[in-house]
Amino acid sequence: MMHDELSVVIELIYPILSSQYFMCRYTYKLGHKLFNGSYVWSGMYSFKASPYPGQGSLQRVVIFGDMGKAEFDGSNEYNDFQPGSLNTTYQLVKDLKNIDIVLHIGDLCYANGYLSQWDQFTAQIEPIASTVPYMVGSGNHERDWPGTGSFYGNMDSGGECGVLAETMFYVPAENRAKFWYSTDYGMFRFCIADTEHDWRPGTVQYKFIEHCLSSVDREKQPWLIFLAHRVLGYSSADFYGAEGSTEEPMGRESLQELWQKYKVDIAFYGHVHNYERTCPVYQNTCVRNGSHHYSGPFGATTHVVVGGGGASLADFAPVRAKWSYVRDHDYGFVKLTAFNHSTLLFEYKKSSNGRVHDHFTISRDYRDILACTIDGCQGTTLAS
Ligand SMILES: *[C@@H]1O[C@H](CO)[C@@H](O)[C@H](O)[C@H]1NC(C)=O
Ligand SMILES: *[C@@H]1O[C@H](CO)[C@@H](O)[C@H](O)[C@H]1NC(C)=O
Ligand SMILES: *[C@@H]1O[C@H](CO)[C@@H](O)[C@H](O)[C@H]1NC(C)=O
Ligand SMILES: *[C@@H]1O[C@H](CO)[C@@H](O)[C@H](O)[C@H]1NC(C)=O
Ligand SMILES: [Fe+2]
Repeated sequence: MMHDELSVVIELIYPILSSQYFMCRYTYKLGHKLFNGSYVWSGMYSFKASPYPGQGSLQRVVIFGDMGKAEFDGSNEYNDFQPGSLNTTYQLVKDLKNIDIVLHIGDLCYANGYLSQWDQFTAQIEPIASTVPYMVGSGNHERDWPGTGSFYGNMDSGGECGVLAETMFYVPAENRAKFWYSTDYGMFRFCIADTEHDWRPGTVQYKFIEHCLSSVDREKQPWLIFLAHRVLGYSSADFYGAEGSTEEPMGRESLQELWQKYKVDIAFYGHVHNYERTCPVYQNTCVRNGSHHYSGPFGATTHVVVGGGGASLADFAPVRAKWSYVRDHDYGFVKLTAFNHSTLLFEYKKSSNGRVHDHFTISRDYRDILACTIDGCQGTTLAS
């Protein structure tokens, strides 16, 4: 046995009866084994067991990208590239008892090869990540490096090539070097893509995305969410605009048929450091007008850029497309609340004060999901 190891003790303390469901709370501590065989122990932490797929309890999900880390006293940072990071962290810690799971969709800490910065980042998010599932996606700052198999050949990972991200965080991926995976949380199915690897039709990732979207039972898990780091859907970022575009090349051209066919409710992206929400949009056209309340049959996917977790803000292009419904040039994050199988609340909150700046609800029944929509009428449903 090695003299230096990490030991985890997980103890089931008590099952508490929460509404009609049993919910287990686990308390645990981490131990470090010393040379002489004794342990030094951390304090006690606790988390509650996740709801089973389909469970109809209250479920609250926080989503953002591009947070990074910073110092309260500015001591260790030479370019202050993530000025919103501490505010975002602070708001999440403050509201932690009302958060069940966090999804940080890429550009986690911007260590870019300076490994001590991962320790700084994990220390900053410790109150969150020790209490609720902290699920991550992979971004350019985790993965990209020339000649290493990343889809983009830039140097944004500083040579990390995804090794740090895949080692520091567990994700239920078949191959953790390829960072795409699906995860269920009660009434939610999350399909998390990896934009730093090829997603186009014919690739392994494309097959995964279709399988993830198609294999969910929407009667039990009505809320179907697609997530990726780079914008595969729609964004008015000036740096896309400079290329005459509103997305990564080959993004929605490759995937919009899947989102539409499988009726993805909301698609989230980071990479662009601001906030933007579209109308329910398909092939550049609003299938429904942008709104604060949607009900009845599915029209099209709502696309949301939520890359204002902390890294320096990105500007919008001067031209505004019709699909661009709400924009905010500020730091913030999204919170989804599923009350039950028929009501979902979406809130975008500012990191500076935690206040809701944009919101909408979706109200509908299972039969609304079965109903036909443009290019979204499956032969196997009853609605023919
Ligand atoms: C092991 O070493 C630690 C740190 O030096 C010390 O505090 C502890 O008492 C030692 N335990 C035993 C069983 O000798
Ligand atoms: C959106 O609203 C406008 C006017 O408010 C209306 O003319 C148009 O038909 C609506 N479009 C859709 C897709 O509902
Ligand atoms: C679902 O939750 C919403 C919001 O709390 C509530 O208005 C609605 O009645 C609930 N629906 C069902 C079927 O329980
Ligand atoms: C962080 O929050 C404080 C308090 O609301 C605010 O004054 C400050 O501008 C925020 N920082 C950034 C970078 O948004
Ligand atoms: Fe990025």
